[in-house]
Amino acid sequence: MGRAFVYVILGGGVAAGYAALEFTRRGVNHGELCIISKEPVGIPLGLRQVPPYERPALSKGFLLPEAPARLPAFHTCVGANDDRLTPKWYKDHGIELVLGTRVKAADLRRKTLLTATGETISYKILIIATGARALKLEEFGIRGSDAENVCYLRSLADANRIVDVMKTCSGGHAVVIGGGYIGMECAAALVTNRIKVTMVFPEEHCMARLFTPKIAEFYEEYYESKGVNFIKGTVLTSFENSSDGKVTAVILRDGTRVPTDMVVVGIGIRANTSLFEGQLSIDKGGIKVNSQMQTSVGSVYAVGDVAAFPVKLFGGDIRRLEHVDSARRTARHAVTSIMEPGKTGDFDYLPFFYSRVFALSWQFYGDNRGEVVHYGDFPGARFGAYWVDKDRLVGAFLEGGSREDYEAIANAIRLKVPVKDLAELERSGLSFATQA
Ligand code: FDA
Ligand code: NAD
Repeated sequence: MGRAFVYVILGGGVAAGYAALEFTRRGVNHGELCIISKEPVGIPLGLRQVPPYERPALSKGFLLPEAPARLPAFHTCVGANDDRLTPKWYKDHGIELVLGTRVKAADLRRKTLLTATGETISYKILIIATGARALKLEEFGIRGSDAENVCYLRSLADANRIVDVMKTCSGGHAVVIGGGYIGMECAAALVTNRIKVTMVFPEEHCMARLFTPKIAEFYEEYYESKGVNFIKGTVLTSFENSSDGKVTAVILRDGTRVPTDMVVVGIGIRANTSLFEGQLSIDKGGIKVNSQMQTSVGSVYAVGDVAAFPVKLFGGDIRRLEHVDSARRTARHAVTSIMEPGKTGDFDYLPFFYSRVFALSWQFYGDNRGEVVHYGDFPGARFGAYWVDKDRLVGAFLEGGSREDYEAIANAIRLKVPVKDLAELERSGLSFATQA
């Protein structure tokens, strides 16, 4: 058995939602577009269907103890202040949702996808939006992360599980493994739920992929003021379990035993490329695309976390970004390029990352390479850093800025404003960008 569509989006996450909206705006006909997603139909969550939603909500509003965010409130594309695509929206627009269905094989020569339920779905144009999966501790040789009080966070089902486990630990302790985005945002959520947190990670400071030691020091001190304890420069080697299989302590490399009621693990992701290895060019751990988001096979596009694309601003350097803004924009660009072939310009992207924890909020634009210059009132309400490479501004970080401030740093990076004197840049601080 099988069905045929003109356009198929494989994956039902952030990029899929933004691609669907763009398709309708560019005039897709009823019955032409299908989205296939393995995200489970959410019966345990009281939902019959889980079409694309704004994944960032899972580590923020969804985990709040008071008035938590719940679907349908955060379906795409509310994160970009755009239409909210509910199951009814897809129905009204004649878009076929094949949810709770994993694609287990892809034949790009025949233009077919085989689902785990045994259906063959064919397409004329395929958009790969398979995102990424959370790395498991088992991949680093540690066993036992399938215990019921050990949580990962990638999907709605994962977030729901964290909420359930947190309820059993109020006033207790949690260990957070990993000092990246998931670690930092979940630690804040746990504290807000009155759970004491110990963070364990191998680097010298938190958010090592982006933060300088000075920026990290600010956030670590802030977290410590909220009762978070940091154990840095080490990893866990094993879990200790109770007779009913729950984790009761985490054992570190030097033998230190950290008792706990629950564990949250955020140790990075792997892009979901496996269906296409051997069929498409792979780069930077993702599917390599050109500046139209088109892969090495002309009828196949890739967007979001799984796509490795040329960043014009960085001289065409191929990057795979794991952030929501990039998922939204690569998706829109791919659809524009599909619907208006030959008329769509090259994707010209300014990398943008952000986070919000407690009362804090930061944004980053560009690339964190070259020399760093810090500015503003450290430690204070508004501070940041610039990155300068070959005498030009290439990256900017700002905590606590206004909308105008963030627009100014974004603009300065887009313009790659020349920097003659680093000391002068440091003295000018934020006004260097606002007056550029
Ligand atoms: P995404 O992971 O959203 O979707 C992929 C989809 O493909 C899923 O529905 C999956 O089930 C499906 N799929 C995969 N393989 C399949 C198969 N074989 N068959 C069928 N379906 C398949 N970024 C940011 O900039 N700011 C932020 O604050 C946050 N916050 C945040 C919180 C949390 C908890 C997470 C996990 C992530 C973030 N992010 C973020 C990152 C951001 O959410 C991420 O970059 C986007 O979700 C990427 O969108 P994609 O559509 O590429 O993948
Ligand atoms: P990450 O790459 O941000 O951080 C991974 C962290 O894991 C590292 O900082 C390191 O401390 C730790 N680590 C690595 N190997 C380890 C090991 N063996 N033992 C212990 N710790 C180890 O990844 P993440 O925090 O898992 O986030 C997953 C994805 O979700 C990323 O793509 C991220 O961009 C995305 N996300 C983004 C946001 C945001 O942009 N605000 C928020 C949440 C999640």
